[in-house]
Amino acid sequence: MTTYTDKGPKPESGRFVTFHHVTFWVGNAKQSAAHYCARLGFEPFAYKGLETGSRKVAAHVIKQNQILFEFQSMIVPFEPEEMADHLIKHGDGAKDIAFEVEDLDSIFKRAQELGAIVVKKPWEESDENGKVRFTVIQTYGDTTHTLIDRKDYKGFYLPGYKKPTYQDPLLKQLPIIGLNFIDHIVGNQPDSEMSSVAEWYEKNLMFHRFWSVDDKQVHTEYSALRSIVITNYEETIKMPINEPAPGKRKSQIQEYIDYYGGAGVQHIAMNTSNIIEAITNLRARGLNFLEVPDKYYDNLRKRLQHSKVKVTEDLDILQKLKILVDYDDEGYLLQIFTKNMQDRPTLFLEVIQRKNHQGFGVGNFKSLFEAIEADQAERGNL
Ligand SMILES: [Fe+2]
Repeated sequence: MTTYTDKGPKPESGRFVTFHHVTFWVGNAKQSAAHYCARLGFEPFAYKGLETGSRKVAAHVIKQNQILFEFQSMIVPFEPEEMADHLIKHGDGAKDIAFEVEDLDSIFKRAQELGAIVVKKPWEESDENGKVRFTVIQTYGDTTHTLIDRKDYKGFYLPGYKKPTYQDPLLKQLPIIGLNFIDHIVGNQPDSEMSSVAEWYEKNLMFHRFWSVDDKQVHTEYSALRSIVITNYEETIKMPINEPAPGKRKSQIQEYIDYYGGAGVQHIAMNTSNIIEAITNLRARGLNFLEVPDKYYDNLRKRLQHSKVKVTEDLDILQKLKILVDYDDEGYLLQIFTKNMQDRPTLFLEVIQRKNHQGFGVGNFKSLFEAIEADQAERGNL
């Protein structure tokens, strides 16, 4: 594991503030949004569709604290064509990761001059609440980044969206989850493409390396991976980039690539300040998580006896909920991974709580992989 301290030069202009929202292109946005609300504790937040004058695309935006997910679907046959092709190739997936930025035009100009592929040049949208500037650039696979500058906008979301017309009465009866913000979003790359993708962020967006692991550090009997985490200057946006490494059997990263049809978003990690309450209630809502064998907790108890850090949570409760622990001398993190969120073995989610620990759970990669491999074997893909 390598951590980096060199942030590189501070960009003279333009600033990446935070993840703004993630847009998913799915077959049925209405039902996907309802599923994430019922199972994960989101609430309907914004809508556009035929009733609001959007004639080809329906969008259901859901919100939980600072986390915004936007599910979009086609309304008419084969249009927009790009969306139709995307759905056939990738199935349901995360199409766009939007960042809130300051001084969008200077970020765009720099990225364009350095060779970033521009999907859509800067444009402006406005309504009675003000104006927002946007631009879209291409990143790995068919995934894009929308940059959003909304300093002159007072509306609740973005221009063109209305409040949802429907609130699900069931949601009020379900226990609170408490996911607060997007902690990191991971992109899977085909074999030997990780470095060039990491360099793309370093060069075009002036991001820097934050953390990395190689296949000697992360492997099971069957498969291995390499990962580089890149981040913006202020380190408010973290994006691990993975690639498979050769092993005896098919890497779970390769399984993702095969089923998604190329590079794409593997998982979205959401930060909570009380993971025990969050997972207790997510399980009560019927969300499915990866299994972890009890021997993981036997090992953990032994290892923790010799560690400087003290885990304050009850290990019996963590074991019952199958929450993983990773630590160093200074602190620890608690994390858990869901099963895939759709039929294809592609996107899944993570819930994470950090206690003075800025890693990504490298100590858990092995047990995580073994859990994924057990599911992979069940799918006939190991
Ligand atoms: Fe993660």
